[in-house]
Amino acid sequence: ARVSVRGALGVQNANGERVTVQGWIRSVRSQKEVLFLHVNDGSSLESLQVVADSSFDSRELAFGSSVEVQGQLVKSPSKKQNVELKAEKIEVVGNCDAKAFPFKYKERHPLEYLRQYPHLRCRTNILGSILRVRSEATAAIHSFFKPSSKIKVPEENFFNIPVFLTVSGQLHLEVMSGAFTQVFTFGPTFRAENSQSRRHLAEFYMVEAEISFLESLQDLMQVMESLFKTTAMTVLSNCPKDVELCHKFIAPGQKDRLEHMLKNNFLIISYTEAVEILKQASQNFTFTPEWGADLHTEHEKYLVKHCGDIPVFVINYPRALKPFYMRDNEDGPQHTVAAVDLLVPGVGELFGGSLREERCHFLEQRLARLGLTEAYQWYLDLRRFGSVPHGGFGMGFERYLQCILGIDNIKDVIPFPRFTHSCLL
Ligand code: 4AD
Ligand code: MG
Repeated sequence: ARVSVRGALGVQNANGERVTVQGWIRSVRSQKEVLFLHVNDGSSLESLQVVADSSFDSRELAFGSSVEVQGQLVKSPSKKQNVELKAEKIEVVGNCDAKAFPFKYKERHPLEYLRQYPHLRCRTNILGSILRVRSEATAAIHSFFKPSSKIKVPEENFFNIPVFLTVSGQLHLEVMSGAFTQVFTFGPTFRAENSQSRRHLAEFYMVEAEISFLESLQDLMQVMESLFKTTAMTVLSNCPKDVELCHKFIAPGQKDRLEHMLKNNFLIISYTEAVEILKQASQNFTFTPEWGADLHTEHEKYLVKHCGDIPVFVINYPRALKPFYMRDNEDGPQHTVAAVDLLVPGVGELFGGSLREERCHFLEQRLARLGLTEAYQWYLDLRRFGSVPHGGFGMGFERYLQCILGIDNIKDVIPFPRFTHSCLL
């Protein structure tokens, strides 16, 4: 039977089961009488040890080559693994010229180096781990929202009309939440960011949720915190070894930092309080903090440090800084809206969300001031016909992976990063 490496490694008390394994050679070691291969197929971080006798020609069995091995699964005499595969037949499916191959056996290549090979880097242990975590986190997020997972948001239509790449599914989600109460979407999102930063992509994945009959930011923040923590715990329990590899090799101390985030309640401060905190420390910044101005990355990072490296919700931003759909707090001259951003260690802003303006006359006024009344009649209709208080948020999925794994550059947590002037593949 053909089995995956993960499947083979999971066999308890192996007793000569005949199996076929396919994968790529991660290491070759030849001793006098025996040859040891480690074969990996991406199904787990671990490779399967293949033991062959010296009748096999080791010259073809190079690091990086693809192989198919038939043999018997037996209990391994070594403590390092449960089982090993006693080879009866080894077929090289595709040779690999080790001299030309950009990755060298036993070398730990830095992520910046691997980034030059977007078509090959997923063959390495570290990218393998990051992408398995990405996949587990995706599944965990889907199951977090399972009760509403039936709804997918239609996004484009391209019959003879110009099409746009979506920057957010939010307004469509609001339509849906007006019928299905609680909805989410999780897919690619596009932003023409002219930025070479370590946390911006032109194409990233966003998890967005929208909840009807929701009346307070508190309730929204609870969902955000729960999504953050539940997803991390699921990933930790489903692929602990991949997470461990990332933590150990990329960010020493990250394991503790993540635990610290998971076991503490996230903090909440208002935008106004945040600016006060920043003003006390203004000598640290390139951009002078000021009420009414946007928070810069350096400010976000400072706030998180100030809060003891616990994620912190910043709420109630000045109306002038935020989009028209956010709910007016009606708080006099300050004039804030019920917005919430979650700032996290290592990354800064991870979530953005708000209560939505569900009161028709408020929304009409704001749209009129922006000259958008005509274009948004359909959006006003949602407030004319059975309006409900509601709110939602978006979470940048790549930033989430950066935060839990401790990965500095966003380009390393997505298989094919697209950013300013760069589309290598
Ligand atoms: O704060 P943003 O722009 O919020 C929205 O788009 C809302 N309409 C979402 C909603 O309420 N349904 O984006 C949400 C998150 C950010 O906090 C950030 O984590 C991520 O998306 N993000 C990016 N991630 C990578 N590269 C970029 N260029 C990003 N822009 C935003
Ligand atoms: Mg934002």
